[in-house]
Amino acid sequence: MNWEELRKIEEQIRSCTRCPLHEHRTNPVPGEGGFRKGVLFVGEAPGRNEDLQGRPFVGRAGKLLDELLESIGLSREDVYITNVLKCRPPNNRDPKEEEISACSPYLEAQIAALSPKLVVTLGRFAWAWFCERYGIPYRKLTEAHGRLYSSSTLFGSVRVFPTFHPAAALRRREILDLLREDFRTLKEILESL
Ligand code: URA
Repeated sequence: MNWEELRKIEEQIRSCTRCPLHEHRTNPVPGEGGFRKGVLFVGEAPGRNEDLQGRPFVGRAGKLLDELLESIGLSREDVYITNVLKCRPPNNRDPKEEEISACSPYLEAQIAALSPKLVVTLGRFAWAWFCERYGIPYRKLTEAHGRLYSSSTLFGSVRVFPTFHPAAALRRREILDLLREDFRTLKEILESL
């Protein structure tokens, strides 16, 4: 864990103009957290509240994430939370390929600075990003969620635990149940690492 390097990356993100999303943003959202337990959470992209505050997961989905973390004895001090995209896409539309490409060096650098013990991906964009980057065979999140995937590549080794996005769980009760179940599994995995 290299805090100095992480702070540098956060600063670079705050002044980033690599893709057109910077023209629409109020604030970029680099990520934050105390990272005491070495767990990295990766979501999709900032939403409206995150854009206004410059902080990840501070809206309704963030409240649910806080509750899920608490349910397994974690707080934001224990984890670092960021997103694939650091700036909000207009009207929360899906990230575009070229935006993901432009933003990816930041997530790569954050992973290198943090050396997380475990990465938890929230939603399909973050899961797909890790599959592509680390050569993990991609399967739909409905099939892949709730299990641990390990990979070693030129980028280094990672352990990835994919689960659903809290915003999807707010829309569908079945997803919420699966998300809660995945967090129980996550607790067991963390205890065994
Ligand atoms: N959704 C995300 O994917 N990230 C956030 O930071 C907030 C909502």
